[in-house]
Amino acid sequence: MADTHRHPFLHGLSKHRGAPPTVVVIFGASGDLTARKLIPAVYNLGVDGLLPADFFLVGYGRKPIPDDEFRTLAADAIKEFSRRELEADVWSRIAAHTSYVAGAYDEKEAFDRLAQHITAIEKKLGRELQVLFYISTPPSVFAPILQNLGASGLAGKYLGQPHHAKVIIEKPFGKDLASAQALNATIRSVFEEHQVYRIDHYLGKETVQDLLVQRFANSIFEPLWNRNFIDSVQITVAEEVGVGSRGGYYEQSGALRDMIQNHTMQLLALTAMEPPVSLDAEAVRDEKVKVLKAIQPLVTGPGGDVARAQYAAGMVGGKNVKGYLEEEGIAPNSATETYAAIRLSINNWRWQGVPFYLRSGKRMARRVSEIAITFRRPPGTLFADGGRFDLAANTLSFQIQPDEGLSLILNTKIPGLETRTQPVKMSFRYATTFGSNTPEAYERLVLDAMIGDGTLFIRGDEAETSWKLYTPVLDYWKSVGRDGMDTYAAGSWGPANADALLAPGRAWRQP
Ligand SMILES: NC(=O)c1ccc[n+]([C@@H]2O[C@H](COP(=O)([O-])OP(=O)(O)OC[C@H]3O[C@@H](n4cnc5c(N)ncnc54)[C@H](OP(=O)(O)O)[C@@H]3O)[C@@H](O)[C@H]2O)c1
Repeated sequence: MADTHRHPFLHGLSKHRGAPPTVVVIFGASGDLTARKLIPAVYNLGVDGLLPADFFLVGYGRKPIPDDEFRTLAADAIKEFSRRELEADVWSRIAAHTSYVAGAYDEKEAFDRLAQHITAIEKKLGRELQVLFYISTPPSVFAPILQNLGASGLAGKYLGQPHHAKVIIEKPFGKDLASAQALNATIRSVFEEHQVYRIDHYLGKETVQDLLVQRFANSIFEPLWNRNFIDSVQITVAEEVGVGSRGGYYEQSGALRDMIQNHTMQLLALTAMEPPVSLDAEAVRDEKVKVLKAIQPLVTGPGGDVARAQYAAGMVGGKNVKGYLEEEGIAPNSATETYAAIRLSINNWRWQGVPFYLRSGKRMARRVSEIAITFRRPPGTLFADGGRFDLAANTLSFQIQPDEGLSLILNTKIPGLETRTQPVKMSFRYATTFGSNTPEAYERLVLDAMIGDGTLFIRGDEAETSWKLYTPVLDYWKSVGRDGMDTYAAGSWGPANADALLAPGRAWRQP
């Protein structure tokens, strides 16, 4: 039945990945992420037959919600947000094992009740279950939840047995180095590192996983993947949306914390790391940490490695939109950046001298996330046009969203009697080759956590290494207020001060 949903090209590619009997407990179960991503992810794993036969879902939150009402909310979330229609038989099997526990996040007795609830499920079933806690609340309650998971004995449940308790922690993972270290210390006081799954949903995206396959399953790339052939790398996470109604939240965050420190750094680590000895979680994460540690400290002052800006009024999608300072909940003299661009140098044998440019912004020309690897320009002497050697640089780009795929720019002869060249794009799109109904990142990540595969999750030292790089930038920006804050028109590709980060002859891409 599940196979009727699968594109023919996918047959034979899937490995059976069996999760043990599991109860998933979602903290913050009445929230936005639960409805938009987590419940649909669980449901789609059910459609694909990837949930264990003994699978239970428990919602947890402060608001009392009867079991029936929680099941109705969950079904409504699937109808609204799932990539596939709600099928009554799949949902009824999950719904029969879905319940809700109400309680505060800082109340030990409530966690004791949760523990009793899980024990009652196990007793009725006649077997033990692994428990996967998903902390999907605002970060202000991460610590009390973790502490109470420890105090109630839930964190140590069956520790030492193959299917012990695990915890998925949502972003943001701290707001600077000190808070990330404090959060790691709280986590480690309760859980062992191998029980912890710090999520960055970018790592669950198909193209991001494909980056590892492209790099290490094709022999043509590795010989070129270094300073001898690569000119520069650009990583872009651009959004079309502004801050909308989340201005209050965004004022505390900004582009560097919200996107650069986590998503773009994960993309950088996978692009730049050395080949791991295996695809084992620790082998991959060791290599990611090594390359992050090889990044040179950033120069923060004028003429340095960082640029920031706020969007001004402009036009997006044919509509006039406000500037950041006019948005609801934004201080008129706000120093929060809606755009950040960074120039990084990786000081190792492979990358020395190759700049990595990262940028992320709201209200940009187009919603797009991509990694673009630009190779050194060919000499072009054979094809000089009127004395100009204007061959394009070969560029390999991984488009992470939307229209997942990859493309390569090649110089090609224009048909005709003269020998003239033109760059052309050779493209591969997942949707065209494999069908458009690919799993959402959260499906892959929830399944991996159930199975116990941490490869696509962030290890504690990875998070801290990234914060170590960016905390001095945040401190510098805090110390100078709005000094050096540029603006860019909403709907554009960003501010002029970001251009200054690029060497002459290089330009920000407009993907
Ligand atoms: N939404 C997204 O698309 C998205 C994407 C990536 C990451 N995240 C991260 O995922 C987590 C959850 O996001 P969300 O958008 O679902 O958050 P949310 O809707 O604001 O909150 C989730 C739930 O947490 C509880 N809660 C809210 N504010 C609280 C507070 N001040 N103190 C204690 N409990 C509170 C509420 O449940 P009760 O009142 O029932 O307790 C709420 O329904 C956050 O860490 C967020 O950064 C979200």
